[in-house]
Amino acid sequence: MNVQQRVRQFFHALAAPLVPTDFILIEQVLKPELRELFLRMAPAERNHSIQVYQTLTEQGHRDKDLLAAALLHDVGKIQFPVRLYERVLIVLLTPLMRKLDKKPVKDRQSRLMNLMRAAAEHPQWGADLVQQAGGSEELAWLVRLHHDKLQHPPQNEKEQQLLALQAADRKN
Ligand SMILES: [Fe+2]
Ligand SMILES: [Fe+2]
Repeated sequence: MNVQQRVRQFFHALAAPLVPTDFILIEQVLKPELRELFLRMAPAERNHSIQVYQTLTEQGHRDKDLLAAALLHDVGKIQFPVRLYERVLIVLLTPLMRKLDKKPVKDRQSRLMNLMRAAAEHPQWGADLVQQAGGSEELAWLVRLHHDKLQHPPQNEKEQQLLALQAADRKN
């Protein structure tokens, strides 16, 4: 995603509470425990997730775990909610964040360090939340790996779905 697209994404994120059709969609895709998780996400994250979902369905994807992953892949971010202006920092610093080691968050660390930690660890946090809420192994797997680069060509349907999720995520 280029800078122009990221700026557009940022301003889109400023807007829009959920509309009735969003609620219908969420009810169709997520069971109540997972729905509750989704509703705890920040509006910007929810909007982004719905766009990822729409991209995948427009491409013809119908697998229920993949579509649930579209809605919940970033749910780990609820562990450390991000203010809007901080979102800009994250976009700019993401390449660096990925290289950080993954030590537990400590109270004395600065907010920026925690943000960077959240950017690096939200896939694992999200997978844990999804599993605690009774989500399937497949869903948790997609959430956990949604930023990991496959080291080989996709060898099964799940790995193809992971690539589709990652591409839709990058697009939105
Ligand atoms: Fe993510
Ligand atoms: Fe995302």
